Amino acid sequence: MNRPYDAVVFDLDGVICHTDKYHYLGWKSVADDLGIPFDETVNNRLRGVSRMESLEIILEKYEGEPLSDARKDEIATIKNVRYRVMLGDMSPADLDPSVRATLDDLRGRGLKLAIGSSSKNAKFILERIGLGGYFDEISDGTNISRSKPDPEVFLKAAQFLGVEPAKCVVIEDAVAGIEAGVAAGMYTVAIGDAADQGAGDAKLGTFADLSQVMTDLGC
Ligand code: G6P
Ligand code: MG
Repeated sequence: MNRPYDAVVFDLDGVICHTDKYHYLGWKSVADDLGIPFDETVNNRLRGVSRMESLEIILEKYEGEPLSDARKDEIATIKNVRYRVMLGDMSPADLDPSVRATLDDLRGRGLKLAIGSSSKNAKFILERIGLGGYFDEISDGTNISRSKPDPEVFLKAAQFLGVEPAKCVVIEDAVAGIEAGVAAGMYTVAIGDAADQGAGDAKLGTFADLSQVMTDLGC
């Protein structure tokens, strides 16, 4: 079928599920340990950004002795261990039924569906919420060397799908993720913080609004 878009590439944290709140709690706990102020404003800058880059942003407000690379690795590992404990408590009940229904609707239209996430925990999260094996392709933190706003993760998703980037729609809650989608040459749809900041070619109030956006795009 000849239509404007053939695939939809979804960010994971803050789009498919609310693991962004667990990222926040994980980073907040290590920031508290180090006496670093940390709030939602700082947290929003971490959306879409890799683990180590996230730590560097948090450390902008650190006033102690300089930290060695080994110590930074240790801090990032502590955050990830605490984060993984929270992920371990997730279950399919953490997948909003309207998200699942919207995904099924798009799939029913013949669109290919992929994940494009900077996270190295993406596949684990998808398993926890009952979406292991659901997506046609997964491009995540394990197959990229540059995180958003670099377009690498989305270009890899398009490559894995065998779809031209210009035929892909990206769904993102991160301003950095919208920038990555634009740099990849994709149509961008913002939700959550990215929508609040005015980013994206289209904006969603709720995930389920995506069905209408895709209809409006002729898909
Ligand atoms: C996503 C999140 C970021 C997170 C990054 C790496 O992009 O939005 O907040 O830092 O993934 O996640 P990871 O699970 O590998 O630490
Ligand atoms: Mg996100």
